[in-house]
Amino acid sequence: MNYETPQFFHVMQYAAAADRDVIDMVSGNPDWEPPEAIRDGLSEYAESDASEFQYPPSDGLKPLREEIAARRNVDPARVIVTNGTGEANYLGMARALERDAGEDCVLIDPVYPYYPGKVSMLGGETQLVDAARNGTLDVESTCEAIGPETGLIVLNTPNNPTGAVYDIDSIRAVVETAADHDALVVVDEVYDHFDFAGSFKSALTLDADNVIVTSGVSKSMAITGFRVGYAIFPQDLIEPAKTRHMLVNVTTSRPAQQAVYNAYRETGPDYYAAARDRLTDRVDSFTEALDRAGAEYTTPDGAFYVLARFDGFPGTMENVKTLIDEAGVAGMPGSTFGTARNDWLRFALVTPRATEAAERLAEYFAE
Ligand SMILES: Cc1ncc(COP(=O)(O)O)c(C=O)c1O
Repeated sequence: MNYETPQFFHVMQYAAAADRDVIDMVSGNPDWEPPEAIRDGLSEYAESDASEFQYPPSDGLKPLREEIAARRNVDPARVIVTNGTGEANYLGMARALERDAGEDCVLIDPVYPYYPGKVSMLGGETQLVDAARNGTLDVESTCEAIGPETGLIVLNTPNNPTGAVYDIDSIRAVVETAADHDALVVVDEVYDHFDFAGSFKSALTLDADNVIVTSGVSKSMAITGFRVGYAIFPQDLIEPAKTRHMLVNVTTSRPAQQAVYNAYRETGPDYYAAARDRLTDRVDSFTEALDRAGAEYTTPDGAFYVLARFDGFPGTMENVKTLIDEAGVAGMPGSTFGTARNDWLRFALVTPRATEAAERLAEYFAE
């Protein structure tokens, strides 16, 4: 698989050009409103003095860094505000690989394709380890894969695409094995607010000095276009990451940071709970219709994706295009998420038409 050019935009473009109505379940763009305070924060910002339109500190607006630090119970000095979780992952991964502590990077298969793409961009070697059948971490095989040449392990919980929420003891076991081999663990928690069972526990609670936690508000505040995320580094590792962030980006957009700070301050837990309720309803109705389509599927504990497998219809790019043309539903090929779920298709439930899409699938596969 070529991960250097992620395939999401290719599928979206194909769906957009189709000669029929297509329900887009490709991307992870939330279809609901951001917190009200985002719009208010932007309006207020527009009225600010021109001096507020200039560079913020490179590592992020101080009040925002402090707010994130308070929420994650860490020292603000450990926080860098980044251009989305995507950049936070890049900084964490680059930090692991620039240490000359090994260039092997253990990633869990199925894998969010931007991770292996970044590994090869950074000169590392990807080593895929299969997730357990239910999508959670297979601790034994993950730890077995970690050795003297391992510099980095990347974990993602709640997981895209399996929907698994890793239990903290599994993460601890991987982090301890990584420490034995002087490897860093990047834990991407961008879906932390989408934890349907309430079982998510952050890797920050391990208080380990080889763990970098990344996250952001693209999903939780439904603002993927704002590009605000963050990385929390162990104190001893952060300075070179700050320098890399500064040299690549200078800083992160100030109006976006200001609006996010406003939203953190003004938004209560009900906003996030409503998003979870909306998604669990969609998971229920989507999977009910998948039952009627005779599909095997994963029921996510977190994030907002469902993996489905239809007999005799593997998750290839070709089959994804067939479903766009013939069923009017666009998903992602399982084959773009590593090798473990080649037979599967991934559907993002971030459309109010999720049930209609599953009905289309049921009809198509009943034929
Ligand atoms: C696992 C994972 N990490 C990171 C990202 C990117 O997040 P951001 O928009 O905060 O850069 C995504 C987006 O889909 C994702 O699924």
